[in-house]
Amino acid sequence: MTITDITGKTRLFGILADPIHQVKTPQVMNALFRRHAVDAVLVPMHVAPDGLPALMAGLREMRNFGGFIATVPHKPDMLSLCDETVGDAARIGAVNCVRRESDGRMVGAMLDGIGFVEGLRSNGIGIVGCSILLAGAGGAASAIAFALAGAGAGRLTICNRTVEKAEALSDRVRRDHPYLPVQAKAALSDIGEFDIIVNATSLGMRAGDPLPVGLKGLGPHHVVAEAIMEPAETPLLAEAVRHGCRVQPGLPMLERQIELMARHMGALA
Ligand code: ATR
Repeated sequence: MTITDITGKTRLFGILADPIHQVKTPQVMNALFRRHAVDAVLVPMHVAPDGLPALMAGLREMRNFGGFIATVPHKPDMLSLCDETVGDAARIGAVNCVRRESDGRMVGAMLDGIGFVEGLRSNGIGIVGCSILLAGAGGAASAIAFALAGAGAGRLTICNRTVEKAEALSDRVRRDHPYLPVQAKAALSDIGEFDIIVNATSLGMRAGDPLPVGLKGLGPHHVVAEAIMEPAETPLLAEAVRHGCRVQPGLPMLERQIELMARHMGALA
């Protein structure tokens, strides 16, 4: 669909962010709508955190509105603003995709982690029974930790600079998956024992960032996955390639997640 194809029947969707100028989702989602011949359009919505309650009230009244994607800094706030959540959103403590039901009810989901895991799976990387090292314990890491646990990981080690956050996340995951061995670490000297290494810290976004974990023991038997989408090649991925590992960059995962979001919002069957 192009802008001149928009009619009174076109359904509206949005992406909510503050700031908004950097978002690329409209291009990707509108291309998806077009590929599937869906009469819908997704537009950027710039709203500050203190405007969210009024926005939600307005969107509940807007009958041709199908839902929206929420990104930085709105994901934690959206949890309490939705009427209902599905999946792991409440456990993770954040919502990144909201469907507006025909009666105006807002149903939130957190698809960051599921998108990440589906991205791995669609590239033939299995999770079941694997020993996984997850670097990070912030928002992205929480979503990924629950998704990895739900996907059948065999063992999860969460490594984070602030070890208290790794411990708190480990406790939350353990509560939900009591049979999964989960441990927290402040640092690791040897990563040889793991099958999959995931970077869910922000280290690697800026030039000169140190590696998120030490890479002693890194070898061709490892899968190294990155949650960072930009730059496409982080220092961790470069090192992994140099060591002959199988690598999974962050960006392709976005595409899988876009499809999951379109389905949650009811734009795709
Ligand atoms: P996001 O929502 O993108 O996950 P976040 O919640 O702020 O962002 O989490 C950022 C993650 O990167 C955290 O795990 C953070 O570690 P701390 O919990 O110790 O802050 C990690 N991180 C960011 N900068 C870091 C640095 N310089 N060294 C080590 N870890 C860092």
